[in-house]
Amino acid sequence: MNKRGKFISRRKILFGLGGLAAVGALATKQLVQAVDNLKKDFQVTGKLSLSQRAAKKGLIYGAASRKIDLSSNPLYAAAIVQNCSLLVPEWEFKWTAGNVRLRPSPNRFDFTAADWMANFAATHNLLLRGHTLVWHESLPPWFQKTVNRQNAEQILENHIHALVKRYAGKIHSWDVVNEIIQPKDGRRDNLRITPWLQLLGPNYIDLAFRLTAAADPKALLVYNEYGLDYDNPEQETKRTAVLKLLERLRAKSVPIHALGIQAHLSPGDNKFNPKKLRQFLHHVAGLGLKILITELDVVDKKLPRDIKVRDRIIAAVYEDYLSTVLEEKAVIAVITWGLSDRYSWLNEFEPRPDRAPVRPLPLDAQMQRKLAWNAIARAFDNAPKR
Ligand code: XIL
Repeated sequence: MNKRGKFISRRKILFGLGGLAAVGALATKQLVQAVDNLKKDFQVTGKLSLSQRAAKKGLIYGAASRKIDLSSNPLYAAAIVQNCSLLVPEWEFKWTAGNVRLRPSPNRFDFTAADWMANFAATHNLLLRGHTLVWHESLPPWFQKTVNRQNAEQILENHIHALVKRYAGKIHSWDVVNEIIQPKDGRRDNLRITPWLQLLGPNYIDLAFRLTAAADPKALLVYNEYGLDYDNPEQETKRTAVLKLLERLRAKSVPIHALGIQAHLSPGDNKFNPKKLRQFLHHVAGLGLKILITELDVVDKKLPRDIKVRDRIIAAVYEDYLSTVLEEKAVIAVITWGLSDRYSWLNEFEPRPDRAPVRPLPLDAQMQRKLAWNAIARAFDNAPKR
């Protein structure tokens, strides 16, 4: 049933999806399942916001956002405040990102943008999430020619101390390390070969967590990772490697409190296996760790162009994934990587071959709710209470 109350003809749907199958993206089973999903109406009851529905189950819902968007679009800022109880700066707490230079030079910090985001969160009573202290991306231009084995530890310590201390007590959780497992790099420990690993050795991870804990004993300290969601050999290998790393860190009493699962979902040629994912989450929880879904969105480049069909498939992906992960009570937060399609990073990083605007998030470019919003709301409404 579309907005005008017309049923979308099954023939049209199959043609739309069939075209997709012709592209070799959707397996037949998924094609049929996607068509069956189209019959779902994703009905939502009541008028609660996403964060209010999450809170009723002891969950946090939030979104990533950027100063450049919040400061220039009052409608968008209002949508963030209305829907979220947590804000994660998409650029402002990184060493460098977009038009933000937190670290303009080896001995300088420019907290202007980070302070603006922290003030926005405080003004609107939003929890604030720090992302991210140690990553192989978003390193400033001066990093490679300045940092060496002799000064790397001091530079890392200065960065963490200055940034974490400045917002100590105001941060819900820090992504202390980000995307540090990469089995394809061929190491026995499956660590990604990053500048930090090359400069400081594997113990850079322990060091980062210990420095962060010392600078803000109140913050939840998180290891954030992608590629953990689907049932395929590559992601199974990665899940196993992540579990081994978490076990090692816990055995050494490293102050790590949670695993962040980015959850950039990509339907089309990935097999989603709820049982396998629940087993992984159960193992993580068994280590005494909490779990945050930290960058949830849906890559739609392999989905049909037809918005009615595409939005339904995306909604079904959201509902299937969240209903699976929220069964694990160690999952404490769901954060989408953006709130409105207008500002999604996927416009630039995972554009559609047909160049149609992507539609990965709960609100469209005009801040109107989509079926994805309904699907997330339904998942919160049906989740067990924490
Ligand atoms: C992305 C931002 O969304 C982009 O705007 C920026 O140009 C690059 O980084 N995983 C992460 C995030 O942990 O920090 C990335 O954010 C998306 C992938």
